[in-house]
Amino acid sequence: MKSEKAEPARIVVLVSGSGSNMQVIAEACAKNEIDGDITAVISNRPDVMGLQRAKELGIATDVVDHTQFPTREEFDANLIRAIDEHTPDLIVLAGFMRILTSDFVRRYKGKMLNIHPSLLPKYKGLNTHQRALDAGDKEAGVTVHFVSEDLDGGANIIQAIVPVLDDDDEGTLRSRVQTQEHVIYPIAVKWFVEGRISLNKGDAYFDGQPLPDTGLKLTQ
Ligand code: GRF
Repeated sequence: MKSEKAEPARIVVLVSGSGSNMQVIAEACAKNEIDGDITAVISNRPDVMGLQRAKELGIATDVVDHTQFPTREEFDANLIRAIDEHTPDLIVLAGFMRILTSDFVRRYKGKMLNIHPSLLPKYKGLNTHQRALDAGDKEAGVTVHFVSEDLDGGANIIQAIVPVLDDDDEGTLRSRVQTQEHVIYPIAVKWFVEGRISLNKGDAYFDGQPLPDTGLKLTQ
């Protein structure tokens, strides 16, 4: 019997801002480096560059404006409706700046990824680059991880490490880190759609083997 090739994975990307990570993932899909399609880009803010980029790439967009909902629960319920319309295999948070309810996170457990601009578990939350500079760190970086109910606390998949230079300021460090974001996020998405990474009892696995706490490491 002729075997049918599986359909490309359906990916929904959530953004709140510039959408540069969404764009590199979309480009990797277009080049068939990732066997997937971004079926929608959803933003919680109506006027962001991420939506503009998606439109230019011919990707469907939607806005679920958090200011229109009195509670986090109502916002999340509406966001779930908007996401599930696209029956995604994977949800990618790419600069999505909302804290999500436990119900939301549980619903997409094992199929929702986030990128965070630090070497997690260091510097969860905001202002990661300035905090690395203030601490005198010699290395900084970025992590792609599964999303769990702990903010920036789910199992790590891959990290890229960059040097911190003596004359760095927040801007120069951010830009060095962001170059690496654009390398590792498409890699992690590719692995996910190929079924190479998975989450089991809170731990990340690669090709069936448990990953170290850092995730895989890419050093510049
Ligand atoms: C990135 O720095 C990412 O690490 C953080 O938010 C930023 C998103 O950038 N979570 P962009 O919207 O993808 O350009």
